[in-house]
Amino acid sequence: MIENIFSQAVRAAITHWRSNVTFDYMLNCLAHPRELGKELLPLIENELKSRDCSCAQVKDFVWNNPHVRLEDVFEPPELPETPTDFRPVPEVEGTVLAQVTAIACLATISSAAVSYRSENEGDLFVNLVVLPPDRGAFSDKSAGKMSGHTDGVSFPIRGQRDPENDRIAPSPDFVCLSALRNPNQVPTMVMPLDHLMKRLSKDHIDELKKPQYIIASQLTFREGMKKILGDDLIVDDAQLLFEMNGSWWIRFSHSSTQIADIDKKSAQEAMDALKDACADCAIPVALRPGDIALVNNRIALHGRSEVGKEYGKQTRWLLRTYGLDVSDINTEQWHDGSNFMLYP
Ligand SMILES: [Fe+2]
Repeated sequence: MIENIFSQAVRAAITHWRSNVTFDYMLNCLAHPRELGKELLPLIENELKSRDCSCAQVKDFVWNNPHVRLEDVFEPPELPETPTDFRPVPEVEGTVLAQVTAIACLATISSAAVSYRSENEGDLFVNLVVLPPDRGAFSDKSAGKMSGHTDGVSFPIRGQRDPENDRIAPSPDFVCLSALRNPNQVPTMVMPLDHLMKRLSKDHIDELKKPQYIIASQLTFREGMKKILGDDLIVDDAQLLFEMNGSWWIRFSHSSTQIADIDKKSAQEAMDALKDACADCAIPVALRPGDIALVNNRIALHGRSEVGKEYGKQTRWLLRTYGLDVSDINTEQWHDGSNFMLYP
């Protein structure tokens, strides 16, 4: 299984690298993820080679799968209590190692670890945890079930531009989840696009390809969008399905997508069919501490089962970052000269 080889190679490379650097060096590397990726890549290449594998093979595999789970890719860490906010990520051995490993996995598949300035102040890694009840809509969202969506849904897919603002960077190619704690084995749900397509009629597919949907930004982006753009980013002529060189890509969010013309029944019916398909096609992925999931944000939707209201202590704790092929990103699509923080 290529994912096992990938996982073992990354773990071996990082374990060896870690034995030769200080904690402060490792911490400093997180501020320069592209450079860190370059430093780690030859080590991983060597480990893959010794297992009769290559970065090219791993890359081909990961980019063509709705999700890849890398089991035991880092040592399940000793940790402080689970934080009660998205940021900051506590700076301890276990969390730093999980972040370095995530950057290494992404570098192996030619994907840069990126963030958006408008979400969580642009932090490259955020805690996915349950928030205390005093955080209103954020608390409810963090504890509840999450329906299928792509992340950064109001941003264009890679290769396209926002219709009104050239600076807007594309949504991520990958959502990268590093599991630190998951005591109740709450699954991340993955809905592969090829499974969804099989449940849609030709008419539904044609409708979903038309620019007739309104997409608003997801909750975690809204405050930041207002600060940076002066307003929420809302796309009012979005298509949801894209034909990309013989395959399909999707952008969609149950909670942030609606039809542009309320009289257009066919558009609504196609979206309802997509939602029904999501309910039928969800694959549960219960991550264990030390696992990393690479969820493909073009050819899969993802969501989550209900987590429950308990927070802090030993409760569920994942770290999340995004991966993107940045070879065609323009200078102005980066935020303030950063090489990991995208605009807006
Ligand atoms: Fe998400």
